[in-house]
Amino acid sequence: MKMIKILGFVTLLATSYQCLAQTSLVGPGKKIDPYHYEITKNGLFRRAAVSSAHPLASKVGAAIMEQGGNAFDAAIATQLALAVVYPGAGNIGGGGFLLARMSKGEVFGLDYREAAPARANRDMYLDKNGNAITMLSQQGQLASGIPGTVAGLFATMPYAKLPFSVLIQPAIDLAEKGFAITEKQANGFNGEKAIFQKQNSQPIAFVKETKWKVGDTLIQKELAATLKRIQKDGAKGFYEGETAKLLVAEMQKGNGIISLEDLKSYTAKLRNPIEFDYRGHHIVSFAPPSSGGLLINQMMKMIEKYPVSEYKFQSVKSVQLMIEAERRAYADRAEHMGDPDFYKVPVKTLTSDAYLAKRMSDYSPDKAGVSTAITAGAIHESEETTHISIVDAAGNMVSVTTTLNDTYGSKTVVAGAGFLLNNEMDDFSVKPGVPNMYGAIGGEANAIAPGKRMLSSMTPTLVLKNKKPYVVIGTPGGTTIPTSVYQGLVNIIDFNMSASDAINKPKFHHQWQPDVVMIEKDFDANTKKQLLAMGYKLVDRGGIGRTEAIRILSDGKKETAADIRGDDAVAGF
Ligand code: GLY
Repeated sequence: MKMIKILGFVTLLATSYQCLAQTSLVGPGKKIDPYHYEITKNGLFRRAAVSSAHPLASKVGAAIMEQGGNAFDAAIATQLALAVVYPGAGNIGGGGFLLARMSKGEVFGLDYREAAPARANRDMYLDKNGNAITMLSQQGQLASGIPGTVAGLFATMPYAKLPFSVLIQPAIDLAEKGFAITEKQANGFNGEKAIFQKQNSQPIAFVKETKWKVGDTLIQKELAATLKRIQKDGAKGFYEGETAKLLVAEMQKGNGIISLEDLKSYTAKLRNPIEFDYRGHHIVSFAPPSSGGLLINQMMKMIEKYPVSEYKFQSVKSVQLMIEAERRAYADRAEHMGDPDFYKVPVKTLTSDAYLAKRMSDYSPDKAGVSTAITAGAIHESEETTHISIVDAAGNMVSVTTTLNDTYGSKTVVAGAGFLLNNEMDDFSVKPGVPNMYGAIGGEANAIAPGKRMLSSMTPTLVLKNKKPYVVIGTPGGTTIPTSVYQGLVNIIDFNMSASDAINKPKFHHQWQPDVVMIEKDFDANTKKQLLAMGYKLVDRGGIGRTEAIRILSDGKKETAADIRGDDAVAGF
């Protein structure tokens, strides 16, 4: 197994992949071979394009569009495929946000974020002395919010063209007949073995006696059976009947509180997107309960009056300005953002020109700002989430980010149903006003309440230029999501980069607290030196985000890019 660069494409040669007959994946003449596939990082497609976290999922999305589906069909099929081939974050046991612009111009957001169960309460993760027991919000049954993904898929169906039974079939085939795993996936399973065994009393598909290696086949029979119930009974195949009973039985094995009634009453919600203009481009992003749209709105408007392109990419001037915008926006996140159905998020004020000008009034271009002036603690979120960017031949744009929260969520697989449950309850502030063990803070805005949706950072985003589709972008990465999208957009708009350069150049991240700048490797050494001299504390870290972007060129071609930090891949035609 080697990664080889051929003509600018990264190709994965799976020398040890099992040579089995191709499955019936995707339909007549559109075979996808789940045992031999390459990881293609870039493509220039004439009609339709997909970029996602896994090559097989991107191929499924593209093939569905080639068969007559539109971007919504592709979004449904790709999410379902990811739930099988990318179990670390792809899911049916989690939740997400879908942001779309229809070819005729209508924009909308679908919120299928998980919700707190009816028996949840704001102190549910505190011991008798009032201390947070964060293990409980992060692992095991009590960590799960009511899953939203399946409701989200069905809320997307009115915009799709093909029957749901067709869209879910590739995922069923992949789960039932198996597919060859990548090296990164093998390492992921090996690394999680002990925790999977701790959290699951029954055997699960992700654990085997010997070490996983690249090319091994992953078969998920129980997941296939769950997907078939959804294929047969629609959303009821998940939220009612056998699957719901298995999920509630799983809850009862631990201390989980999701009930049959919680599942039956879960609904996806329509949200009006956050929209703003930046240097002649119209940006559309996700509204609360995500913080993402607000954060990129705040950060981009805070830097708009400065000549960023003259400062040049990753010069100390542009980086320092962008860091200071990040610091101020993230301070607002902790204080003012939460589920708008439970807390009045001051969207208008937070994004008004007057407010943002005031936020930058103490900005000094020669020295580091200081976060400690604001009393609050550190923020940490898991960084495992996944994003899909799609454009179809008709010009529909779909940007979807979904999550289990942590990698493999709560690490708990629903016995008999084969899918992982999220640990999204940890995205609430488990003790309002006080940082939890992981440093997540928030006040009343993000306190736990029954039925409430926990604050997210997911930032599925679209850009229009001259009123025409221009960019679809998004990424996983916990609190680094909005900074990754912000930097990707500034790279395209201010620094005129290709989609590939925009997402793959080294990134930096500041989230107000802790008062440090996280920096990816290969970041410009001279800029680092100058930032240190100005008083910034720099922390080297691994990859920031795994961004998927499509940029539509003036001739209509879709310049499609998948992040080099993972197995992410593009597909299209
Ligand atoms: N769980 C990551 C997020 O929603 O931001």
